[in-house]
Amino acid sequence: MRIQSIKFKITILYTIALGTLLVAYSSYLYLTLSKGLGEDLDIELKGKTRQIKYFIEEFNRQTFQAGENVDKNLDDVIDMTINLNKYRSKGEIFLETGNDWLKSFDYLDLSEDFIYFLNVDSQVPAFTKNVNGEIKILFLNTVDKKNAAQTLLKNIRINNEYFRMIQEPFYFNGKMKFIILIATSQKTLLTVLKERRDVLFFSIPIVLVLAILISKYFSDRLVKPIVEVASVAEQVTHKDLSQRIKTRYNDEEIKIMVGAFNKMIDRLQKAFGHIAEFNSHVAHELKTPIAIINGECEVALRKEQSNSEYKETLQAVFEESQKMLKITEDLLLLAKADYVPENFVFQEFDLKEFFDEICEKERKISLEKEIDIKLKFLTKTKVLKGDALHLRRLFLNIINNSIKFTRKGGVIDISVKADHNNLIVEIADTGIGISAGDIDKIFDQFYQKVPTDLPARGIGLGLSIAQALAKVHNGKIKVQSIVDRGTTFTVTLPIISSSTRTQEAIYAAS
Ligand SMILES: Nc1ncnc2c1ncn2[C@@H]1O[C@H](COP(=O)(O)OP(=O)(O)OP(=O)(O)O)[C@@H](O)[C@H]1O
Ligand SMILES: [Mg+2]
Repeated sequence: MRIQSIKFKITILYTIALGTLLVAYSSYLYLTLSKGLGEDLDIELKGKTRQIKYFIEEFNRQTFQAGENVDKNLDDVIDMTINLNKYRSKGEIFLETGNDWLKSFDYLDLSEDFIYFLNVDSQVPAFTKNVNGEIKILFLNTVDKKNAAQTLLKNIRINNEYFRMIQEPFYFNGKMKFIILIATSQKTLLTVLKERRDVLFFSIPIVLVLAILISKYFSDRLVKPIVEVASVAEQVTHKDLSQRIKTRYNDEEIKIMVGAFNKMIDRLQKAFGHIAEFNSHVAHELKTPIAIINGECEVALRKEQSNSEYKETLQAVFEESQKMLKITEDLLLLAKADYVPENFVFQEFDLKEFFDEICEKERKISLEKEIDIKLKFLTKTKVLKGDALHLRRLFLNIINNSIKFTRKGGVIDISVKADHNNLIVEIADTGIGISAGDIDKIFDQFYQKVPTDLPARGIGLGLSIAQALAKVHNGKIKVQSIVDRGTTFTVTLPIISSSTRTQEAIYAAS
């Protein structure tokens, strides 16, 4: 897998995204757990102090008579409370007394806790449990005397072990007698947290490795079609355009890509076929006049000829070379309209003048066949923006056809109309018409069908040129025909409205 490959990027991005999410989520879980356990420990500590206080007060009330030395008794009760197990094992406290309050205290386990009662009056430790030597000094230093009236919670370290400590005042007969300090080990809490940490520490890398493998699997699947498209594209040449992507993919986008690729090759194949056919047509069309020129010259050179014979030969050569000139001109114009329409010059021109001139020229040609060309100019639109030279060629090609395919004495009606958006020019002849089977082919390049009784001039490019020129002007050509009755060509060209023109002028100026 290369660093620049999509596969690598998908794998890395997916792994980074998953890794970040995992670390964030695990940290959140760990912090929530740690907070929860810490809060539980605090609740436990508060419960312990509450129960100790309750026990002392209740024990004192139930065990000693009123009027006895209260403080002395209190000392005894506190001592018994915090060392309950000791007294219990000696048999000095009898749980079978049946007192529920005493039974409930039976569950309180203080054996592991550090307990410290600081006498508020004497400022010395009154009662302690598990607290001696250095620990005693530590407790004495830890106690917050300024905030003695409050319940405080803090973390302390005893012998390299972490403890949670609670500080709470103890009132007796309305007076603060002691500050109680209880420290309980955080060992269980820290062990649980450590276990969780270890689980996360080892599981995250495993999950990430799995993520890499899974994302690699999916990225392989994802880029497979791209690789296939590339390999098929490599095999496609102008000689072999038969290659297609055959694998069926279910993913919507891939289906679209593969479909588009296959369709593109279909179009290429058609285009190449068209070029090959076009080339053979061109070669064929040029071959005939060249063969005639060749034959004429060969005959003329074989033996001495009379002047009039040479003239005939030259005439034939001239006619054939004119044909070749027309073919090459037509081909060049077709190529220009299809591939370099930006070379067209769009300018406004006078419509009436334009059509008058065309009809005048065509009437000269139709004179011989006694065909009447009528022009009806039925629009107020005076100007059109377009390439007049090429539009002239478009209409000449259509009208020339009408003359060519109409028998002697026929009529050609040309009407120039316009609606809001378009100039509509109809050229209707009373000619031989076009059969329904042929009408779809007449705009194909080199398509030609000329009845035997009409002179077969041209090569079948006239209408394809006309259509290409109409397209350059965003226009279109439609045809309707009835055999032996006549044909009507309708040319529609968009008129660039004055508002559009103003718009163009604004754009041009900006
Ligand atoms: N007005 C028409 N009436 C009857 N048939 C027509 C008419 N115009 C075109 N066609 C048919 O369409 C075919 C193609 O026309 P197109 O102008 O492309 O070629 P062409 O006139 O035969 O040759 P070229 O225009 O190259 O001199 C013609 O050969 C003819 O069969
Ligand atoms: Mg023609």
